[in-house]
Amino acid sequence: MSELIRKPETLEKAQKEVRQVLSGRTQITEKDLEKLTYLKMVIKETLRLHPSAPLLLRECQETCLVLGYKVPAGTRVIINGYGLGRDERYWVDAEEFKPERFADGSVDYRGNNFEYLPFGSGRRVCPGMNFGYASVEVGLTHLLYYFDWKLPKGMKAEEVDMRATAGIATQRLSPLFMIATPAAPLP
Ligand code: HEM
Repeated sequence: MSELIRKPETLEKAQKEVRQVLSGRTQITEKDLEKLTYLKMVIKETLRLHPSAPLLLRECQETCLVLGYKVPAGTRVIINGYGLGRDERYWVDAEEFKPERFADGSVDYRGNNFEYLPFGSGRRVCPGMNFGYASVEVGLTHLLYYFDWKLPKGMKAEEVDMRATAGIATQRLSPLFMIATPAAPLP
């Protein structure tokens, strides 16, 4: 919601899709979610810029060679997932919120693309991935379908505080204030 409220054209596009698919109904079903292709891109892009767990931790079980470097057994490795998501070598205009970059569907969030690891990868990949993703998808669909959103009076998009807390799991540093106006009949 923080990214969407700063980019009205993206918010509008996501909202239009949700409202087209739901077309006046009051209940959201699993079938509807399958059709929300742009919303899925919005979630992917959000997880790229704002991974909830920005650092992945590993410990080397045995001595190995990585790109010519010898990594001794027992070495603790910290993988900067946040950094990978913003690395200009992998992402054009990396700092920009642009869901369309996921349009061709070639990059997924399941740990198969090492430049994009919002749920980690391999044996220690997030076991709550499907549940976590679905929770975001259902929650966001509801917010976009039932309400129109704007910033409090006089507040500009560039004034939204985008700082996050530091730590193993991150979240917004300050609360996000927005004005919600009902736009569809509630169930
Ligand atoms: C959008 C929501 C979520 C995100 C972005 C997320 C992200 C992550 C990430 C990046 C890791 C580290 C994976 C790695 O090191 O390779 C992780 C681990 C883990 N997550 Fe999630 N997670 C989410 C939701 C959940 C939920 C809903 C649950 C439980 C119901 C959960 C349970 C766990 C557990 C238990 C681990 C540790 C796995 C291990 O070390 O073997 N997560 N998560």
